[in-house]
Amino acid sequence: MTRPLSPADRAKTAAARRSVDFVEDGMKLGLGTGSTAALMVRALAARARDEGLKLTCVATSTRTARQAEGEGLSVVPLDEAGWLDLTIDGADEFDGDLSLIKGGGGALLQEKIVASASDRMIVITDASKEVKTLGAFPLPVEVIPFGWTTTRMQIEELLGGMDVMGTEITRRMAGDEPFRTDEGNFILDLALNRIGDARALSAALNQVPGVVENGLFLGLCDAVVIGHADGRVETRDLNAGTVHEERVLFEESDNIFRDL
Ligand code: A5P
Repeated sequence: MTRPLSPADRAKTAAARRSVDFVEDGMKLGLGTGSTAALMVRALAARARDEGLKLTCVATSTRTARQAEGEGLSVVPLDEAGWLDLTIDGADEFDGDLSLIKGGGGALLQEKIVASASDRMIVITDASKEVKTLGAFPLPVEVIPFGWTTTRMQIEELLGGMDVMGTEITRRMAGDEPFRTDEGNFILDLALNRIGDARALSAALNQVPGVVENGLFLGLCDAVVIGHADGRVETRDLNAGTVHEERVLFEESDNIFRDL
């Protein structure tokens, strides 16, 4: 069933559409996870079909792998693909240095592995996710289920010595059950409100026994494609130091949210 496009949907669609212009024939691509990434996968598959592009894709979750294969894209494990040319993914927050919070969809571990195995990472987003300082979005931390309450206590303790403005930790739930990642782990969401030193926090979190990975993506993102509801798209390239603005045209009949 197709639902009408909301302003947020239009913004995400515009960013997703624009991002696939960066894909070239023969590329090895990392495919992100989340609602914006799902739109990108659909737009990518349409472009690959129309232009006969030969692409090798690596998915960052079983969800994305299922969608991409269903859309006719060739999906292989990262170990088979090796190094990737480009990863396109969504984010929950980004700042002026293109530092990110990711993991709102619970796929942060594979997302970080895939992004770090790519020459280039492009983030697709709507403008509402831009922040001055990271931390308004709760920071997801993936932990192994064994002894997770002691892992949580140790995280609480370390937060006491960090430059943050909150210390509340919640285990993510999926209905009545704990949410499980693709690897069978739990997610702890850290309500920090403001992260003063993301690098120090990320390093400290990953030292806690039981922590598998955290949702801070630092120094990984090269460019951000920011969509707006009116079809305007701004592309900021950190390395080139450029900002470009274009307009993506799409019709209501073009609603690529159908079935997603
Ligand atoms: C998935 O685990 C996340 O990292 C997503 O990339 C992030 O939550 C953005 O998702 P949306 O595009 O659905 O906002």
